[in-house]
Amino acid sequence: MVPTDRIFVALDTTETARAVGLARDLVGKVGGAKVGKEYFTANGPDGVRAVASVGMPVFIDLKWHDIPNTVAGAVRASLPLKPAFVNVHASGGAAMLQAAVAAAAEAGEQRPLVLAVTVLTSLDDEDLRATGINGSASDQVLRLAKLAQDNGIDGVVCSAREIDVLREACGPQFRLMVPGIRPAWTLSADQKRVMTPAEAVERGADYLVIGRPITGADDPAVAAGRIAEELGA
Ligand code: C5P
Repeated sequence: MVPTDRIFVALDTTETARAVGLARDLVGKVGGAKVGKEYFTANGPDGVRAVASVGMPVFIDLKWHDIPNTVAGAVRASLPLKPAFVNVHASGGAAMLQAAVAAAAEAGEQRPLVLAVTVLTSLDDEDLRATGINGSASDQVLRLAKLAQDNGIDGVVCSAREIDVLREACGPQFRLMVPGIRPAWTLSADQKRVMTPAEAVERGADYLVIGRPITGADDPAVAAGRIAEELGA
């Protein structure tokens, strides 16, 4: 994979014009764009089409978690948008994960890769205990990643400090998409556990989700180029 293809820029905005403007600036400088609940709730499928129309692969990050039939319906509904990635919560269980994978497969060769979210990084061991999970957050991450993999999921969204363990446990083909990335030359803002792009890739990340270091830069295209350079472009 060429270094630029690893970078997914997080377009966290409610404004279509802002997202499309950034996408235009960044075509060819990043591998794709991630749109999440903020952008999708404000702009819907038309907003996704607008970003995709500039020639940008899109990761629709809506973290679906529902009964299998409903999640399959959501995945199926996303297929006309031709996303490169969609995602679900691994804690939805085996049947839900299989339903998501089967629905994505209906797109044939153009199918999106289906990623899973394991444990939200905002939760610590104590938060998990309050939900009835008595092991550590890191054990739960591993358990859910294996569950996802066993049910056909293509990879997980994980924090940088989980890369080593998940790469070891899930093998080289399992995709690891990693947010919380900060180039050496930026401040960490509110991300507490950050890693540089080069370090994350060295450890085994396939894709890096990077938002503000690119979108908040004076010149986003230059910032993306510097990150690609750090990755060896
Ligand atoms: O601007 P920044 O690079 O922090 O953006 C990171 C993106 O990755 C945001 O869209 C955020 O929601 C997402 N994310 C994260 N940390 C996680 C999971 C997802 O920052 N643990």
